[in-house]
Amino acid sequence: MTTYRIAPSLLSADFARLGEEVRNVIAAGADWIHFDVMDNHYVPNLTFGPMICQALKPHAKTADGKGVPIDVHLMVQPVDALAAAFADAGADLISFHPDASAHVHRSVQAIKSKGCKAGVVFNPAESLDVLEWVIEDIDLILIMSVNPGFGGQGFIDSALRKVEQARKWIERSGKDIRLEVDGGIKVDNIRRVADAGADTFVAGSAIFGKPDYASVVQAMRKELAVG
Ligand code: DX5
Ligand code: ZN
Repeated sequence: MTTYRIAPSLLSADFARLGEEVRNVIAAGADWIHFDVMDNHYVPNLTFGPMICQALKPHAKTADGKGVPIDVHLMVQPVDALAAAFADAGADLISFHPDASAHVHRSVQAIKSKGCKAGVVFNPAESLDVLEWVIEDIDLILIMSVNPGFGGQGFIDSALRKVEQARKWIERSGKDIRLEVDGGIKVDNIRRVADAGADTFVAGSAIFGKPDYASVVQAMRKELAVG
């Protein structure tokens, strides 16, 4: 049985009330907190850095005190120094875009040496080839189903084929690697994304754009439970 994870993206949260938003979305059933880091260089937008991650860390827990993983998605170039800063700021998983790193294997090692789980992220027009050389060392593959930089974009269907390919890579590796999809995920398409082989789902506007986060998370889980 696949254990599905729902990872709300804070990109669509109310930035004036981030701690409260983290607590509310966890109370609504979030499994991970997805933290989109944009540098206005690798992507044409600018969000938040390690100090904000550190400030939010104490809020990333359930009502009974269990830690909820902070899933940092780095859309930055270069990668390694900021990855280390996020590890120190309490990140649990750190993913980066291989095309933003001069030395992909080194970036993976930099993340793992800090005790964090490491992920690689693939943009819509990027192939998975680099997996050939890093799959032994990673914990997460993140498939972008929009071009990185903004929330609220439409899902790019070719991502489904890439998710299928990534699932095959994971099966061949025999490793326990999460397969996460990011961008344009809603209640009405999450099932298709799961059918393609994904087990972890980022959702920003679909959750934070609605007044009742729990009803969206529950509707997503209901979709994942059928089929
Ligand atoms: C886009 C970010 C996403 C974004 C997804 O660059 O990586 O995590 O928040 O937002 P939605 O779910 O609104 O497409
Ligand atoms: Zn993201």
